[in-house]
Amino acid sequence: MAATVLVTGGLGYVGSHCCVALAHAGYEPVVLDNLSNARESVLERLRELTGAAIELHRADVRDAGALDRALANRPIEAVAHFAGLKSVRESVERPLDYFDNNVNGTARLLEAMARHGVRRMLFSSSATVYGVPQRLPYTEDHPLEPVNPYGCGKLAIERMLERAAAANPDFHYAALRYFNPVGAHPSGRIGEDPRGVPENLLPYVAQVASGQRPTLRVFGKDYDTPDGTGVRDYLHVMDLAEAHVAALRFLEREHRSIAVNLGTGRGHSVLEVVKAFEAASGRPVPIEFAPRRAGDLPEYWADATLAAQELGWRAARGLEEMCRDAWRWQSQNPDGYV
Ligand code: NAD
Ligand code: UD1
Repeated sequence: MAATVLVTGGLGYVGSHCCVALAHAGYEPVVLDNLSNARESVLERLRELTGAAIELHRADVRDAGALDRALANRPIEAVAHFAGLKSVRESVERPLDYFDNNVNGTARLLEAMARHGVRRMLFSSSATVYGVPQRLPYTEDHPLEPVNPYGCGKLAIERMLERAAAANPDFHYAALRYFNPVGAHPSGRIGEDPRGVPENLLPYVAQVASGQRPTLRVFGKDYDTPDGTGVRDYLHVMDLAEAHVAALRFLEREHRSIAVNLGTGRGHSVLEVVKAFEAASGRPVPIEFAPRRAGDLPEYWADATLAAQELGWRAARGLEEMCRDAWRWQSQNPDGYV
């Protein structure tokens, strides 16, 4: 019988792709999501892509009763914990909501896991835990000094996991520090569906290429980077999803915890992304330069060595494939999930 993984936030962008990767690797994903940033129609698409009757618990991770119901009726191999709020800008405006949802939500989930003897967690952390780079690329031992409430919450959760594991030798976790996930499943059936005006680069570029928005505003042209625009480590979401499977196997095999970067190990500038997207889509992406965005760092990328050594995982897809798959999703679903 397939081992079951409870996927919190499994209808969201990264969680949905991870459900596909887990099913492909022989696990049975069960989703728990409160639909605060997702549509229920994602579930149909997941069932179609995986051929599995994926179960959905429409519930909040802060709801102990709902967690008990999701964890009680079968043995759960692990929890893949994606449920959370993710806008840095919003976290500055509503820090308490972010701490409540993300930090308290994880505490409730860990308590429920303890009640039901679930011993493994994959956690969606972020490169934002590092803060201002003291050296690049970021290695996992870089100081952790997040500069915004969202990042402080992610670090608080990493600390909580560390202490929970210290107190319970049977409990192991992987804190997965994502760099910039982009792209979509190659089928074009699932992808990133931001509400309102996209805050992140790739979805914005995709909407410009499709004619839904007139121009991309490039935030900053005088950074100390090769072409003056911001540099990030963009990572195909399917590579990221597959990294979760590798991390779960690591926990099963090694019986120890890990905090690890998930990135490609190389950076691309905003202008490089625009050029790659134009090539992938065959459409123009007009740009205009705008002032730097508050809170943005000039550049950062991952040292991806530890993931290769410990998880046996390396990103396999390059910028061209990220843009091609993002464009397929965008052009086949101009209004996102409906
Ligand atoms: P997303 O918003 O698409 O997915 C999050 C999902 O969690 C949504 O389906 C939402 O409905 C659900 N959710 C939120 N709060 C919940 C709660 N209290 N109870 C139950 N469900 C809840 O975001 P994503 O891009 O898929 O990100 C997933 C995780 O990865 C988040 O924790 C995010 O902080 C982290 N992360 C994302 C990125 C990124 O660029 N996408 C980068 C680093 C880390
Ligand atoms: C943001 C979050 C980060 C999160 C990441 C991935 C901030 C400060 N950080 O990172 O915590 O992990 O998203 O979801 O918000 N850009 C433009 N025009 C746009 C949008 C973006 O020029 O319309 C530029 C940005 O200035 C940046 C790059 O594109 O240089 C990437 O931006 P974005 O996709 O928002 O990701 P990050 O800022 O890296």
